[in-house]
Amino acid sequence: MRKKSIIVVNFGSQYVQLIARRIRELGVYSEIVNWDTPSEEIKKKAPYGIIFSGGPASVYAEDAPLPDPEIYNLGIPILGICYGLQVITHQLGGKVAKSEKQEYGRARLKVIKGNTIFEGIPKESDVWMSHADKVVKLPTGFETLAVSENSPYAVIANKKRTIYGLQFHPEVTHTVFGKELLANFVYGVCGAQRNWEMGDFIKEKIEEIKQTVGKSKVIAALSGGVDSTVVAVLTHKSIGEQLHCFFIDHGLLRLNERKEVERNLKSLGLPLTVVDASELFLERLKGVEDPEEKRKIIGRTFIEVFEREAKKIEDAEFLLQGTLYPDVVESAGIKGSAKIKTHHNVGGIPERMNLKLLEPFRELFKDEVRQIGKLLGIPEEILKRHPFPGPGLAIRIIGSINKEDLEILRRADSIFIEELKKEGLYDRIWQAFAVLLPVKSVGVMGDVRTYEKVIALRAVESVDGMTADWYRLPYDFLDRVMRRIINEVKGVNRVVYDVSSKPPSTIEWE
Ligand code: XMP
Repeated sequence: MRKKSIIVVNFGSQYVQLIARRIRELGVYSEIVNWDTPSEEIKKKAPYGIIFSGGPASVYAEDAPLPDPEIYNLGIPILGICYGLQVITHQLGGKVAKSEKQEYGRARLKVIKGNTIFEGIPKESDVWMSHADKVVKLPTGFETLAVSENSPYAVIANKKRTIYGLQFHPEVTHTVFGKELLANFVYGVCGAQRNWEMGDFIKEKIEEIKQTVGKSKVIAALSGGVDSTVVAVLTHKSIGEQLHCFFIDHGLLRLNERKEVERNLKSLGLPLTVVDASELFLERLKGVEDPEEKRKIIGRTFIEVFEREAKKIEDAEFLLQGTLYPDVVESAGIKGSAKIKTHHNVGGIPERMNLKLLEPFRELFKDEVRQIGKLLGIPEEILKRHPFPGPGLAIRIIGSINKEDLEILRRADSIFIEELKKEGLYDRIWQAFAVLLPVKSVGVMGDVRTYEKVIALRAVESVDGMTADWYRLPYDFLDRVMRRIINEVKGVNRVVYDVSSKPPSTIEWE
């Protein structure tokens, strides 16, 4: 029987999956539908409630996405978030206009009228705003429940029709009581029952993969990282030896990484071929300085090597990938999002090899994948590994790449990571690594002038890699790492610490 859900109507927000994920975290099944889904279809699903996502449009624009107005007559509770609130206002007879002062970032919310939606939430709290338009007149039957300095209609409701609107984003962590607000809507207003946990997701996916794949074969290129390992173990549970995995060493791996990954993957029982293609990659990257060019060469070469190897598996019909939701957004797989970097693990291979994509984790975030991994019995050591980008150390050596620099970076990076683990800091950090800069600076070692390279250390906190802040590492710790790197890694005489956040910077340097 199909599960009752909270339906999230997508108006093009980057946060739409995050909303669905928050609902799942509350223990209720959630699914996303596009804004133009007929209300008849939504009615058939008999959801507990409906959430309108935010979105980049203006409700009064000619081509503004607006839902079928019948949706308001289904008698199903509705919560509009940001653009969603403006849609409700616009369609039910209120007025939305361009805001004189745009409101981005933190704002103070003041509750002026009590309601189920505020259960357990203080009268004043911080919320996260991101809007250019605002409501200037409420539709009939609606009242204001809370305000902020720039939004006189920050929370509105028509209690009788159970329609609510929030001008801010409850789904982001900066809205301090966002989770409570959503829980009040889901349980308090919609009367939902708990019907969802990660174990269900695993069972459903195992079944779904079996159905999709049938008797054909699936191939996968593993990186040894969390996503591809967990997705391979799950798929292996589902279809056994119909899955075959490859691990390609592109020569841009960290110290001892190939050996460790091979050991890990084999210990999980995965059918695996390890391919050493490092010479080919390094040859092609010789003298190439431009980051996008490097990424493209690596992507292309990877496809070529993988294609050559994968052809040895007859009847392969699917390519398994551990693509996560942030990868989809950042590679502009979502309409309306801008492309920042070419991520080499999304796209390319299937078209060339005439393979269908199998991406069971497309709607998930990294920590959800870690939870799945834990339930599947994958060792913590693998699940807690920091993310490592597909192009590897190539995007951590600024400019062109050679073996000597790779060795310098490997050794510096390994010292940094070893010290983080020793100090118990590794698990508190989203991602940490060393970067080799193409500048030389003057130093003095044992009374002798040196003229050598610079290592930059980067450590960031993040929830999903889409935004990040630099990690406040203790000075003494940084001091110890600096000393070890300069003493133990020949060719480096200066270490700096990167204190940029994302945005405006990115996590990787290239
Ligand atoms: P940026 O540098 O875009 O990185 O802030 C966000 C996260 O993505 C990782 N990253 C990649 N991962 N293939 C990957 O699999 C790639 O091409 C790639 N580029 C960046 C990065 O390490 C960080 O965790």
